[in-house]
Amino acid sequence: MQSDGRGAEFSRRLAQIESRQPIATGRRHLAVTLTRYYETWLDWRHLVTVFSPALTACECARSGAWGWALRLFDHSGQIHGLHLQLDREAARCWVSMTEGPWLDSVWVCRVQAAVANGCGLDLEWRFHGPLVGSTEAPAENEQNAMVHAIVDQVLATEEQRMQVRERHLNVRIDMIDRDSRLDLGAVDVVVVPQTFTLSDREYVLTRLHDEWIAYPAWCPHMLAPLASATLVGNVVRCPWHGAVFNVVTGACEHEGALAGPLALGPQPHIVERAGHLWAEWP
Ligand code: FES
Repeated sequence: MQSDGRGAEFSRRLAQIESRQPIATGRRHLAVTLTRYYETWLDWRHLVTVFSPALTACECARSGAWGWALRLFDHSGQIHGLHLQLDREAARCWVSMTEGPWLDSVWVCRVQAAVANGCGLDLEWRFHGPLVGSTEAPAENEQNAMVHAIVDQVLATEEQRMQVRERHLNVRIDMIDRDSRLDLGAVDVVVVPQTFTLSDREYVLTRLHDEWIAYPAWCPHMLAPLASATLVGNVVRCPWHGAVFNVVTGACEHEGALAGPLALGPQPHIVERAGHLWAEWP
């Protein structure tokens, strides 16, 4: 079991928690790979962006292959302490609420390879909360509905994100068809910024210093959406881990939380021809 040295302690705690009646349970098929699934759990840095505006900031006390311990701040100033424990051997993980209104609640998830259609994962989850039996707690059915709404939203958001990442990782540089080109429309009516797809990759078209330019719509690190990030001068800052990229040169000018610099990757040229704008490979 991956652990920060406290795995046994957490396993004992999990057994205690699971002896309690859960507030809510559910199942969901995730059309993702196990690699993307674990990667997403461990990537705590993307949480604030994905769940904004509800969350505004995140502090990480410690993290590793075993999971993480975080303090999340929501828009009302409320602090939520969260601890993730990832147990790859048992294909399970659980998030304990260590601070805030859901203190002592635990969300336990287990996955196995999907049986029905042979791809993806079947996830089974149980949410154990301290609210059951409390005099101030909402009725049990309300708690159940509330937890289901939150979990469904989280899983839907993250599943989509994992699928986007998988799709983009599967597009390799050697799959670029250098002969492919795209008519972006008449120069007079083209609106920027806009995104377009060339060689199965998505790009942002914009105008910079009176020149047309196209840069990747997804960050080369973990495929955060660069298309939604604001371009400031020649640079765009990745909303997830803070890497700063020069969209003209493709170079990484600031690594943010990355272990090393990454380049933006291949960028098509934008040329004007016969009154139309074309995206094509140099
Ligand atoms: S996704 Fe990590 S720096 Fe962009």
